[in-house]
Amino acid sequence: MRILRMMFPAAVALLSAICPADAFAQRITAEEVAGKSKDEFIDGLLGRMTVEEKIGQLNLPSYGNVKPDAKKSEIAGRISRGEVGGIFNIFGVDDIRALQEVAVEKSRLGIPIIIGADICQGYKTTFPVPLALSCSWKPENIEEVARISAREVSADGVCWTYSPMVDISRDARWGRVKEGAGEDPYLGSLMAAAWVRGYQSDNLSADTTIMACVKHFALYGAAEAGRDYNPADMSRVTAMNYYMQPYKAAVDAGVGSVMSSFNEFESIPATGNSWLLHDILRGHWGFKGFVVSDYLSISEMMNHGVGYSEDVTLQAFKAGVDMDMIADLYHANLKGLIDEGKISMAELDDACRRMLVAKYDLGLFHNPYRYCNPERGKKEMRSAANLAAARRIAAESYVLLKNDGGILPLSGVRKVAVVGPLADSRANMSGSWTKDEATGRYNGLVENLRDALGGDVEVVYSRGSNLVDSEKYEYNFTNRETNKRGDDKVLLADALKAVEGADVIIAAMGESLDMSGEGDSRAILEMPECQERLMDALDATGIPVVMVLFTGRPLAMERQDRQADAILNVWEGGSEAGLAIADVLTGKVNPTAKLTMTFPRVTGQCPIYYNHKNTGRPVAPGEWYRPFASNYIDVPNEPLYPFGYGLSYTDYEYGDVTLSSVEMSSTGKITASVAVTNTGRRDGEEIVQLYLRDMVRSITPPVKELKDYRRVALKAGETKTVIFEITVDDLKFYNSSLDYVAEPGEFTVMIGGNSRDVKTAKFMLK
Ligand code: NOJ
Repeated sequence: MRILRMMFPAAVALLSAICPADAFAQRITAEEVAGKSKDEFIDGLLGRMTVEEKIGQLNLPSYGNVKPDAKKSEIAGRISRGEVGGIFNIFGVDDIRALQEVAVEKSRLGIPIIIGADICQGYKTTFPVPLALSCSWKPENIEEVARISAREVSADGVCWTYSPMVDISRDARWGRVKEGAGEDPYLGSLMAAAWVRGYQSDNLSADTTIMACVKHFALYGAAEAGRDYNPADMSRVTAMNYYMQPYKAAVDAGVGSVMSSFNEFESIPATGNSWLLHDILRGHWGFKGFVVSDYLSISEMMNHGVGYSEDVTLQAFKAGVDMDMIADLYHANLKGLIDEGKISMAELDDACRRMLVAKYDLGLFHNPYRYCNPERGKKEMRSAANLAAARRIAAESYVLLKNDGGILPLSGVRKVAVVGPLADSRANMSGSWTKDEATGRYNGLVENLRDALGGDVEVVYSRGSNLVDSEKYEYNFTNRETNKRGDDKVLLADALKAVEGADVIIAAMGESLDMSGEGDSRAILEMPECQERLMDALDATGIPVVMVLFTGRPLAMERQDRQADAILNVWEGGSEAGLAIADVLTGKVNPTAKLTMTFPRVTGQCPIYYNHKNTGRPVAPGEWYRPFASNYIDVPNEPLYPFGYGLSYTDYEYGDVTLSSVEMSSTGKITASVAVTNTGRRDGEEIVQLYLRDMVRSITPPVKELKDYRRVALKAGETKTVIFEITVDDLKFYNSSLDYVAEPGEFTVMIGGNSRDVKTAKFMLK
């Protein structure tokens, strides 16, 4: 071409005008990638992209059906025309490689596409839902889950995950609480950073790492009335002091991308909200990666009522959304907005550059097929090590909520009756984001309990009841295995027969995975009546009942709490849940997990959370009702189970809190110590929690805030002194000017095994 250009310049110019593609001279070459620095390469590439190609990089369309021949699919045509920056939720090396080949070989410049997916709790090896994982209070577990997820899915073509979801939520009615780490900003931040470290590691371009995408920015978990997609209405100080912390932690950990959320904030949809996306995310926190909208969240801004197609496109783009998921509005409108001068070429270049940098950092320009490795996949998927990790991590996320008379772990039993609508479901254990089609091979509870208890123990099973009372709910139930209907009277009669002569009943009840998750808000968190009737009948037998609670959210189960002798909350525990539940029930594993979300007594207490305000008319802890105080006339303010709560097969006793000084200077620090004793007969590990309360400050403080914790292994009878260091950073908050400050005055230190039962001491910040 160069020679042609020298010999016939006019002809070449004419040819280029007719056929501007000039494809061979323009296409990315391996030499170019290898021979230039990142900035030089991206500058060079941007310099030869057309406006349409730049806009194409910002487009994340629906891929539709790629079978039977991905290369002939509709999306392949769009990719070859340079209209697509990435696609998502497509799996398998063959289809992904085929589409990547189209991008690299058929599009004019050969820019690879980014392949995303919702890998939120494992891929082929499935782990507990993130809410459950957070209850381990072990960021290292979450890092391991993310690492294993990345290793598995990166062999199957995916290099970008829509995880972690770090939305704080105080309202269990919201169906998506199971995707996050609960209600606490401090713990949520530790977990957020751990997810990012696990997925991305410190080398994003390795074949086994993937880019994380923290979501949903921002405040999505505060959806009014717990109804999904509803507005999140709160002050900026509340946002900054609580809800924003985990997103910031993910940004500080180097997350590569951020997803904007569906909700509005301050009457502006988050996807078009420049205070959130521009001022805070990019300005305040210095985020350098790219922002993708949520699914259709740009076009949904029209439903929010802030404009029509071009308006919402402009608003989202100007606010800082780089990539349009599914709506196709950037594709439809950006060119026109640029021609009209409403968006500058520099702004388009900035957004496009962020997409190209992400692809560069993932190593896609160096090797677009690096994430398609069936050989590695064969070794990675569901490897013995991965399954063992899933089993261990699941057991570490189960919260023992009650254990009267030490009925657990099971011992000396000859007949065990496993009863309940969730007792024999495998598919239900996976959680809603599973991408594993073959959930039938998961470990079931009944068989695993049988194996764990050994041949001398008889284990019988009966379903006992339907999952829900009315078929009307079932339109949403995809999990037919769990939800097939029977006659409640017949089911109950069968169960009562099955439990005859049993030493203990294991009642597996709660929610199926279809009852929580996106779009699955619930206004009634009490147990469905059919399950309630089952529990009433089991209780009436006089046989000890251990409730194994399957759920994606805190439930209001005051009645069952009174009835059951023991309750083990096993959430949605992933592919190895059956083994892990048996491990805990039989005592092979001593439970250590603690709740990261408050359980209400009744739905009407929601939203309910431990770090609430005092009000001008508080009731004392434990006090129920006083006229004209801030309480209910029909239920106490206290939850059923508080944040941080969880039992073990042993018991712990806390000594008094000792401070190294009752004064702290503005640059100094003090220590708070407490002696913790294992007073039971088993070795265990206690999560010792430190809370602080700022007694007086310029904006009203919460009654307590988690600031630190330690996991302490204690042999039976052993005592250890746990020492916490408190620095001025632990005392800081965003004041009404959104400055991050500590104000002098009195502070209360609280230490205990949950947020309710604490020992206290006081100090002054000078
Ligand atoms: C919508 C959900 O809100 C989001 O969490 C998810 O990542 C996208 N859909 C893509 O599946």
